[in-house]
Amino acid sequence: MKVIYTEKSQLLASRVAQNLGAKLSTVKYTTFPDGEQYVRVEELDDEMLVVASTVDGMSAMQVLLLMDACEGRDVTLVLPYMGYARQDKKFNDGEPISARALAKALSEGAARVLTVNIHDPSVLSHFRCPAENLSVAPEIGAYIKEQKIENPLILSPDEGAWEFAKAVAGPYGLDCDHLNKTRLSGSEVTMAPKHLDAKGRDCVIVDDIIATGGSTALAASMLMEQGAKSVRAAGVHGVFASGGYIKLMQAGLADVANSDTIERASSRFTASRIIAEAVRK
Ligand code: R5P
Repeated sequence: MKVIYTEKSQLLASRVAQNLGAKLSTVKYTTFPDGEQYVRVEELDDEMLVVASTVDGMSAMQVLLLMDACEGRDVTLVLPYMGYARQDKKFNDGEPISARALAKALSEGAARVLTVNIHDPSVLSHFRCPAENLSVAPEIGAYIKEQKIENPLILSPDEGAWEFAKAVAGPYGLDCDHLNKTRLSGSEVTMAPKHLDAKGRDCVIVDDIIATGGSTALAASMLMEQGAKSVRAAGVHGVFASGGYIKLMQAGLADVANSDTIERASSRFTASRIIAEAVRK
């Protein structure tokens, strides 16, 4: 098996290859003067593993080209972060289901697709081959444990993500709850843990995506008002759109960490082990 990657998933691809004991192939990337992408995979094998977060349009185009370059091989496509995955419904006539469009196009020629903490697993049905969603919840739990936080309380931003928070906290016996939003007036909301008290606790907000950071920053300021000793955030996918990381720093979070599905300086835990395990199966 040879492991290939888009330009923005090099770190994760090399970690996956290391976990698998597989070889990386060199991939040559060039942008033509008109902006078009050129790729060349230097070593093809019967079995190919493509590790490719579609963090932007250029990455999505590189996946399309890599998949075509692997024509006729047994290809597993890993989309650690799948861009457009949240546009999974049609709200108005004339709109595409963007997640479906991307899933169909990218998985052409793939034998199998793996995603990581995709926002809505129903998107998996749009791929043209069997698809499986993996979760980095165990690595987030391990990361929190390593921080030796004194009095941790793991919180999901809403009830929908509570199962995810339980999967983070459960194996380490950490306290866990979900935040509950109450509307006080037209413009005012309050957020607090549904069952436990944040007072004196070192809260860790866990979520699948930190997009603009708005939800996490709001939750953090509420928890601090309620007497939390500290507030941290750990998200799977660190998108940090529109200055999201700065927003979280300004909100006073003690730490903001994300996985390497999107490679950043704040990528403090890796999705490589769970990806390698799923590839081996
Ligand atoms: C929403 O359903 C997601 O799980 C995240 O909570 C959301 O994407 C976070 O968005 P933002 O960081 O922009 O508040």
